[in-house]
Amino acid sequence: MSGLVEALKPASCYPHVVLVLGKGGVGKTTISIALARSLSRLGRTLLLSLDPAKHLAKYLGVIGEGPTEVSENLHVQQVSVEREVEAVTSRYAELLRELLPSLSVYNLEGVTDVVRYTPGVEEEVFLRALARVFRSSYSYVVVDTPPTGVALRTLALPNLYLVWLGKLIEVRERIVSLRYVIARTLGREVEVRDRALERLYEMRAEFQQLRDLLASHERTSYVIVATPEPLPMYELRESYNFLIKRLGNRPKLLVLNRVLPDGVARELGVLDLQRRSLEELASYGVRYAVVEHLGRPTESLADIEELEGRIRVF
Ligand SMILES: Nc1ncnc2c1ncn2[C@@H]1O[C@H](COP(=O)(O)OP(=O)(O)O)[C@@H](O)[C@H]1O
Ligand SMILES: [Mg+2]
Repeated sequence: MSGLVEALKPASCYPHVVLVLGKGGVGKTTISIALARSLSRLGRTLLLSLDPAKHLAKYLGVIGEGPTEVSENLHVQQVSVEREVEAVTSRYAELLRELLPSLSVYNLEGVTDVVRYTPGVEEEVFLRALARVFRSSYSYVVVDTPPTGVALRTLALPNLYLVWLGKLIEVRERIVSLRYVIARTLGREVEVRDRALERLYEMRAEFQQLRDLLASHERTSYVIVATPEPLPMYELRESYNFLIKRLGNRPKLLVLNRVLPDGVARELGVLDLQRRSLEELASYGVRYAVVEHLGRPTESLADIEELEGRIRVF
């Protein structure tokens, strides 16, 4: 087990966030639990699940609203996406009300509905959860992420927001300076402060910080999990390239889960596929772990403990 943690080389900057990526069903939750358990031996650890399939409870018992301590130094939290969507919606409604008081004349509820059902709200929720864990007091936070598409779109959001904010700031700065010039020409008093512009600057600073945290290997480790099958391997490749090209943060650990003993794989006609997957993992030049198939689905914490004994790190 220590091999897994060693591969992450936990840094001295805390909290250190470990994001576990991979296609649905490959074992992200299982591997996240194993990782969080071993990190909790080093320091206070939070295992945060953003996976809408709320499987953590199966292994770790009932999980409350906030972080729940399940063993020494190990806290677990399941983010409720529905509740968070509500929070995001009301935050934006409030922001709009504050910045555009005239809006209340129209139907503000209509605006909040638009926010609630806008594509990307889920990603915004995940991004906010990530921003929160960076501000938390844990030494390690392991994040069990939603399926690849949503996870990658979430990680791309800060850059996207920064492009939009840059443009919005440009436009708003022009408006503010025009307003100033007009008022001066007319010999009127002008309010120099502009709440909207200040808020835009704040948002830009927040997203710059988050983007930098997600790109820093001191602060964020990416772990990609796959099984020796075409689709999971395809998503591993996609995630790997995304992390390098878009975030500039090379994954620290690749995990090949549910690897069958050669004899069994041959019998099932998947030996070649398994070998090719292993070769591909080795070819990336980063640490990788091979996790044996337990021979049955993991059902309990005892099964995960057993699995922990079957992890080999290269
Ligand atoms: N090494 C393994 N051996 C046997 N079953 C496994 C192994 N890893 C995961 N599983 C099983 O595979 C299924 C998917 O695992 P899970 O961790 O929930 O995946 P994900 O979070 O990626 O959707 C679960 O039924 C789990 O018990
Ligand atoms: Mg899961």
